[in-house]
Amino acid sequence: MTAETALTLADINLNDETLFESGLSHEAFRILRRENPISWTPAEERIKGHWNLVKYEDVLQVSRHPEIFSSERGIVQYEPINPEDATQAANGNGKMLITMDPPRHVKLRRLVNKGFTPRAVAAMEPHIRQITRKLLDGIAAKGECDFVLDVASQLPLAVICGMMGLEDKDWPLMFQLTNKVLGAGDPEYQTDVPEDQRGTDEAARATGNMGTMQMFGFFAQQLMNRKEHRREDLISLLVDSELDGDRLSDEDILWFCFLLILAGNETTRNGISGGLVSLFEHPAERARLQADMSLMPSAVEEILRWVSPVTHMARVALEDTEIRGQRIAQGERVVMWYPAVNRDEDVFPQAQRFDITRTPNDHLAFGIGEHFCLGAGFARLEMRVMFEELFTRFPDIELNGPVERLRSTFIGGIKHLPVRFSPER
Ligand code: HEM
Repeated sequence: MTAETALTLADINLNDETLFESGLSHEAFRILRRENPISWTPAEERIKGHWNLVKYEDVLQVSRHPEIFSSERGIVQYEPINPEDATQAANGNGKMLITMDPPRHVKLRRLVNKGFTPRAVAAMEPHIRQITRKLLDGIAAKGECDFVLDVASQLPLAVICGMMGLEDKDWPLMFQLTNKVLGAGDPEYQTDVPEDQRGTDEAARATGNMGTMQMFGFFAQQLMNRKEHRREDLISLLVDSELDGDRLSDEDILWFCFLLILAGNETTRNGISGGLVSLFEHPAERARLQADMSLMPSAVEEILRWVSPVTHMARVALEDTEIRGQRIAQGERVVMWYPAVNRDEDVFPQAQRFDITRTPNDHLAFGIGEHFCLGAGFARLEMRVMFEELFTRFPDIELNGPVERLRSTFIGGIKHLPVRFSPER
């Protein structure tokens, strides 16, 4: 489907990754909010059907009731009919913070929270600014770059890898493996699959599995190494942590590393690159921001609302229940579409307007409730510092070619973003 084609309710298939890659998903969500706020995506050959939530209020209801809507059976839209079709990442259902239910979720969250308090985040600002400046030094003389590869991906990667105590030489591998796991459906990242087989469901599954296994192999080595020599890093901290009087198991620690490296870099990367694209597309708002950088905190919130870097999270009903009068049966999956609820006309006045001073701005880009994003403080800080430094140094930065989006229903990603600016001599 092309941007010129008029979309109708009958055309909308939220399992279709190209809907998101083409940028038509916002139009699809607008139609769904108006015409079918709780829609059912029927089962396909190998995957079960699921409910789609596109209204803000419905996502609040689900997120605030983990006793009814469970994360333990997976947080993505796909649930295979045959358990053998499950991906390696699905083995982590029930084992990662993000796929746990209370009471274990609450206890583990309390344990790891220390590293993510507002004070811990604020203490990182000078370090984050230093990394950002160094990255901009790297492109300054060139006058052009791929903003995703050279800048937007590198800041969150450096921050999370630094927190986990990973050596610089391993960062490119982490970038590559994150792309394989979270961008498994995109042919560009299906590099382990023969070229003529890329773009298929099988290629996506193989890519995701390969990325997950390689990631585990890497972190298993890191863990072994920390057990012998503790360092000042998050992995060492986890090795010495206890939950209910027991040490965390190796498996617990490995799944936590897996979650952190994925959640910590891919999402913020897209907040930064998606934010820059939003500002390119709204020159008056961009000019307002560049004229008064004190507007940055509210601009970052509006970027988060507008971009919604995580496209969905899912839950499974533990009992028969109801949302908006629709019966949801025990065992059925509900998918919360964040870009849809973040433009809900019933909540945000002039919801389709990008407004960097929007107040209040209670977007749900980081989710809400028990599983509210652990790294939200870091993500906000990285985005703010990046835009402050970028516009101070390259005020005339502009688009220099086509924006290439990720083929994914889970991450609102940008793979390539060519830009140009006046080079520094
Ligand atoms: C713009 C950037 C980011 C966005 C949009 C984002 C989005 C989200 C969302 C929507 C959830 C909620 C999951 C749910 O309700 O099921 C979440 C949870 C989580 N995020 Fe983020 N995230 C971002 C950055 C980060 C960063 C930088 C880190 C780590 C440093 C991080 C770590 C986590 C973790 C560990 C969870 C699970 C929390 C729990 O289950 O208690 N995120 N994130």
